[in-house]
Amino acid sequence: MSRLWTRGMCALIGICFVTSLAAYGQTAPAAKSFDLIAWNGGKFVYGADYYPEAWDESQWEKDATMMQEAGINFVRMGEFAWAKMEPKEGQFDFGWLDRALKVLNAHGIRAVLGTPTASPPAWLYEKYPDIAAMDENGVRYRYGSRRNYCVHNADFVAATTRIVTAMAEHFKNHPGVLGWQIDNEVGSPKCFDPASRAAFQAWCRHKYQTLEVLNSDWGTIFWGHTYHDWKEIPLPWNTLYETYNPSLALDFSRFHSDSLHAYVDIQVAILRRVAPRQAITHNEMGMYSGVDYYDLNRSLDFVAWDNYPMFGKDYAQYNGAGLAHDLMRGSKDNQNYMIMEQQGGAGGWATFFGHQAPASLYRVWAYQSVAHGADGVCYFRWRTSRYGTEQYWQGILDQDSYRNSRYFAVAQTGKELGKLTTLLQGTKVVSPVAMLVSPDSRWAQQIQPGVKDFEYDQQLHDYYDAFRRAGVSVDVAFPPSDLSAYRIVVAPALYVTDQTLVNKLHAFVKSGGTLILTFRSGVKDEHNVVTDQTLPGPFADIAGVAIHEFDPQVNEEQELVGPGESRYPTRTWNDILEPSTAKALATYGKGYYAGKPAVTENHAGKGLVYYVGTESTSPLFYDRLIAMAAKKSLIAINQRIPTGVEVAVRQKPGTKIIFVLNYTGMDQTVPLDQAYQNALTGKTEPMDLQIPAFEVKVLTEK
Ligand code: GAL
Repeated sequence: MSRLWTRGMCALIGICFVTSLAAYGQTAPAAKSFDLIAWNGGKFVYGADYYPEAWDESQWEKDATMMQEAGINFVRMGEFAWAKMEPKEGQFDFGWLDRALKVLNAHGIRAVLGTPTASPPAWLYEKYPDIAAMDENGVRYRYGSRRNYCVHNADFVAATTRIVTAMAEHFKNHPGVLGWQIDNEVGSPKCFDPASRAAFQAWCRHKYQTLEVLNSDWGTIFWGHTYHDWKEIPLPWNTLYETYNPSLALDFSRFHSDSLHAYVDIQVAILRRVAPRQAITHNEMGMYSGVDYYDLNRSLDFVAWDNYPMFGKDYAQYNGAGLAHDLMRGSKDNQNYMIMEQQGGAGGWATFFGHQAPASLYRVWAYQSVAHGADGVCYFRWRTSRYGTEQYWQGILDQDSYRNSRYFAVAQTGKELGKLTTLLQGTKVVSPVAMLVSPDSRWAQQIQPGVKDFEYDQQLHDYYDAFRRAGVSVDVAFPPSDLSAYRIVVAPALYVTDQTLVNKLHAFVKSGGTLILTFRSGVKDEHNVVTDQTLPGPFADIAGVAIHEFDPQVNEEQELVGPGESRYPTRTWNDILEPSTAKALATYGKGYYAGKPAVTENHAGKGLVYYVGTESTSPLFYDRLIAMAAKKSLIAINQRIPTGVEVAVRQKPGTKIIFVLNYTGMDQTVPLDQAYQNALTGKTEPMDLQIPAFEVKVLTEK
């Protein structure tokens, strides 16, 4: 069945939506594995996001020349140019894009074209005002910004189908077009209009089949919120969802993600049918939680994402971008990926977000992408805009096109990556440790954090950062991922589980894996309903503990004693553990539960389970904990890497590439396990590697 969701086909929006959802991923098979370097004719994909439509055509040749000089062989174009491509309904003009491609192609630069649906033209809003999403207060967005469409609007889907089909027909055989980026950063806003409500009701009907099942699974007996007709099911209008049934709210989060996936798949299906030789991707947003990327990426050939490490402000905190890289890689089973928007300058809209970074740091950030598995780096943007909202969002060049220090940093990086391409091709990040990210748990904790300070992503970072500080590669796994190759799986705050995931984690431990669980694990079933088992519910037996008391934290008053004699402050939550078979590694230090276990270790089958009943503000606590776990799992660690220096590895049989990245303004010494060869200079570097401020070293075994 075709998944095209056009106006003519869809008299009943909800039914049509379900048809679309039920079929996604089936009619649009993505490549099983994808080699970006091979796709780009053997070259590392090195590029810039380019907006030729905003510059006089006389500028294009100069731009292409400067790009080529900087080693750029790739551009992304077109994603905001719907109004120029379809100036009137059904009338298309791709001539300007043909001319731009001709100029670029003559300089060895090929393109990914963005389908322009993130920024619909003014005439479309004028004719169909309801294409704009409606917020939770019942107010429709209006024309003037971007990304405010409603995916449940049939007119918008019809317009999408028309422009994507016309573009695909026009460029399907173009030798300079490598592929497609669908839309731009799908995610917000959620739409609360009547069409969306009907679609949500249809989604629920498809999932639960009968109202009896829905009422029972959602526990609608509470407050008498029982439904007797599908049409009664509301949307969670309240922004914080506070007065809504958390089961309904979790399903609404899933529905929103599924809706975006279905919308992307409408475009995927067109492109696969019309332009089957070109690859398909989407520019994703790293840690953004509104979309289940693992699910979305089943439809795409490779992952691309938009990486702005400067948002972190403290440049030495490299793990913010690092975890996002690893999550993006994990969202397509660790296949190498590309950066579609790599930070190319300072960022800001009405005001700049912060200081300008030294130009050399842009090079370090680009290498961080490569070190985590990117086979392509494309900077946002070639040149800062003269117009519109992003006049303060710098590209590589400023508006005057002067060869500034960022241009030279980009050019240096381009030249080096050209030299490293053969070495890099086919290498991957291989990790002994995985962080399990559960979209359901993340959503459920956004709906009901339990305590004000609860942050799921902080929980991930507590452990992730400790492993990365010790130079250990970490993958991000999702519930469907294969865990069997890992020695340690960290599953922080696994709040919502289902039997399949529980079984998978049990099997992982029984066959010898080490599992680190933390507070608020095993609390809810897949419907966001609290278990009636003693916590940690389905994990109580493998963790060897029971929890009959917990203490939600408002202030950081409690402390941990241990491992060893050390004391560490705690925050967020304290589970008071009663070991059955587990051994206590740390206890609480204060108050009425002083001396009671807080962290335990338990042997289960051939494996080991750590249960950490609290969160600490002290990185040292996590450094000690992961050192214990790593030792037992025979994972080599290096806890002498200086703060603000990252060590990351890509490898394939017979090849190991070590990236040493100094994000600090100081020269550093990094003790390594052996002397390596510098892949760029060919010289041998000492075991105590010297690395200057804001520098990168790429090393290989001699
Ligand atoms: C990204 C977006 C770009 C641009 C950039 C800077 O999120 O995809 O189009 O807006 O941010 O604001």
